[in-house]
Amino acid sequence: MKILFVASESTPFAASGGLGDVIGSLPAALKKASPEDDIRVVMPLYGNMDPAWREKLTYLTNKQIVLNWRNQYCGVFSLVYQKVTYYFLDNEYYFKRGQLYGEYDDAERFAFFCRAVIDLLPTIDFFPDILHAHDWQAALSIIYLKRKYGLMERYADIRTVFTIHNIQYQGKYGFNILNDVLDLMPSDRNTVECGDCANLMKGAIVCADRVTTVSPTYAKEILSPKFSFGLDGVLHLYEGKLSGILNGIDRGYYDPAKNPELPKNFHVNDMTGKAVCKEELQKKLGLPVKPETPIVAMITRMVDAKGLDLVTLAADDLLEDDVQLVILGTGDYYYEDYFWHLADRHRDNCRVILKFDKVLAKQIYAGADLFLMPSRSEPCGLAQMICSRYGTVPVVHETGGLYDSIKDAGCEGGGNGFTFASYSAWDMLYAVRNAMNCYRDHAAWKKLVRRVMTTDFSWDSSAKEYLKLYASL
Ligand code: GLC
Repeated sequence: MKILFVASESTPFAASGGLGDVIGSLPAALKKASPEDDIRVVMPLYGNMDPAWREKLTYLTNKQIVLNWRNQYCGVFSLVYQKVTYYFLDNEYYFKRGQLYGEYDDAERFAFFCRAVIDLLPTIDFFPDILHAHDWQAALSIIYLKRKYGLMERYADIRTVFTIHNIQYQGKYGFNILNDVLDLMPSDRNTVECGDCANLMKGAIVCADRVTTVSPTYAKEILSPKFSFGLDGVLHLYEGKLSGILNGIDRGYYDPAKNPELPKNFHVNDMTGKAVCKEELQKKLGLPVKPETPIVAMITRMVDAKGLDLVTLAADDLLEDDVQLVILGTGDYYYEDYFWHLADRHRDNCRVILKFDKVLAKQIYAGADLFLMPSRSEPCGLAQMICSRYGTVPVVHETGGLYDSIKDAGCEGGGNGFTFASYSAWDMLYAVRNAMNCYRDHAAWKKLVRRVMTTDFSWDSSAKEYLKLYASL
């Protein structure tokens, strides 16, 4: 099979969140599971791409891309990464910006990207059997394929999969851009119309052959208005093509036995290094060095969906205990402000670092004891899997992928973390305190950490599920 991923970001080139992690690791896992398949990825060439990677790209070709009256240059660069060909589409006017998204003309930028992907297939001489597009930024590639290119012989047989990584971000615009910017016809209005605007995610749901999301539970949740951000009606109509496949993580990138960023490496059979990582983390953050005090960590975008309202209700109470709380992340101003002041009130046992810092993140994953993820909703969530790899026990709200990946069985019951079912600050606090009690029982904790570290969060089984889905198409 020939498979083309279309996405707006990927590690290690340019990424802003979990989508990037998936696009940087799932293609390689597919290749490993099925070496005879030809797997390729296409994404924009951002101006802020890591220069070390930028240097490695090879220029292939270029083409003018026409969208209504616009006519724009598109260069094509490529690189083989983990046996997968990644294409980078170059147009400095659209992609040499300070950030990946959040620009005033995102609709135009990603319409250009999607049209270029489809237009370039003959130029790069790669007509995939499956075009697999991710999130709203790539939605138009499926819409163009279905509504504009499907009559052309070489395009007609391409089957499409659309994956929703987060239904909150849909790409919604006024109808005035339908023709001018998106180059769609009045007859396409139905396809993208949702409520009183043009909704690109909705259009891809309508046009794709299959729709997936990143955990089985989230696939059910988004059928309800509580989780769907307005798309439950459409998803009910197309429920037959909707399914959920749990993400995995890149076990090579997150490897406590090998990561050079850690003060000392460790392994499930030799955990002495983890104690060193904890001590060094306490020193680095200026916390009292106390091996017996549990460190509770959060590494998160500071937005409502991540359950931070619960933390704001319970944090002062929690910090009365013998515990150290470490929070790393950036986001909405009111949360940043709240956490800054929280750390100021609890100088002995709370540190808040308002940064996006990949190296410190790994040191926290490795040095902490507990990892808190109280997300209000979570399509999959990767941090609960990453912390597990570093022997840091997750405490999670039972929603979406958190529910699918973490099971609470009490301290000695064979689970791989602690969970709470209702979205309540006190239930969250209860779960954290349960975990801290277990932490004090050395023998039970050791067994739990072992179970947590050996839970299989690799891509192996999910990659097979994707391959089955592709084959069925
Ligand atoms: C989004 C979701 C997150 C998921 C990631 C990768 O960032 O919010 O839950 O893990 O995409 O699919």
